[in-house]
Amino acid sequence: MRKAVKRAHVLIEVLCFIVIIGLSGCGEKASVADNSNHTLVLGFAQLGAESSWRIGNTKSITEAAKEAGIQLMYTEAEQKQENQIKNIRSFIAYRVDVIAFSPIVETGWENVLQEAKDAGIPVILTDRTIEGYEELYTCYIGSNFITEGKMAGEFLKKKFAYSKGPVNIVELVGTVGSSPAEERSKGFRQAIRDDPKFVIQTSISGDFMRSKGKEAMSKILKEYKDIDVLYSHNDAMTLGAIESIEKAGLVPGKDIVIISIDGEQEAIDALKAGKMNCVVECSPLLGPTLVDTVKKIMNGEEVPKAIYIEDSVFTEWDDLSDLPPRGY
Ligand code: AHR
Repeated sequence: MRKAVKRAHVLIEVLCFIVIIGLSGCGEKASVADNSNHTLVLGFAQLGAESSWRIGNTKSITEAAKEAGIQLMYTEAEQKQENQIKNIRSFIAYRVDVIAFSPIVETGWENVLQEAKDAGIPVILTDRTIEGYEELYTCYIGSNFITEGKMAGEFLKKKFAYSKGPVNIVELVGTVGSSPAEERSKGFRQAIRDDPKFVIQTSISGDFMRSKGKEAMSKILKEYKDIDVLYSHNDAMTLGAIESIEKAGLVPGKDIVIISIDGEQEAIDALKAGKMNCVVECSPLLGPTLVDTVKKIMNGEEVPKAIYIEDSVFTEWDDLSDLPPRGY
């Protein structure tokens, strides 16, 4: 009980900015993990709220924690690594049981991860990965972004199977230095590299945001007149880009073939309306797998280093009439 009182005290003094979700206040509840009188506390450092995908991801984790009786301490970093690091440090100060976070970029985490390790707090990477330092975190839960990039490239090869080329591609890249941006670029290039008719004319970052995707596409359209394909790293940027394409008097999905990633409801609707040609799924619904993994870790069970969520592809050739609502 003294530990609970100390936790509550530290919470009030140090972490008044953190949103606590899942259980009301700091009330005691039988632990899922160890049957003691201790409620499991998960600190989740989200990177921001840049897209519907991200909002769906937060909702999934929040709901799953609540359902599992886990107390979730939630922070949002407004797309800034320094904020995310500060938030993780707050979780360490509070001595949560487990920390989960979606690293905004791949590098620069070693110090804070070492601090978590020194404090004996296991860390789970959700959605995004980091470069190296595998000994400093317990596991990764999320999609395989290289595979997603490859799936996008495979669609392109089928779509232009009978064209002599050149096939001029423009790429809207996600947040520079983030694992999805790096790996979706890589996987896509791996898929198309054997056929020289595919030419990537330019790659510009839209930071995974709709407004920036719109802006970047409008710049691209002024510079390049013979674009055949837009490959965009997420739906938010794609939806923004479509606005610019239409404004330029072009027909998205026809004058420019559009390949996107995520599978948000709005993108699937655009695909059904013929404004997109292919949407590679990236599921944000990581909550149930995350709470499951938290429980396993707290029970002392071994968990795989990488837990991949399986994604599918939706194309203009599929019958999507029975596709259930996406939920994000
Ligand atoms: O890290 C996953 C990516 O981040 C999603 O594709 C995107 O929508 C989000 O911003």
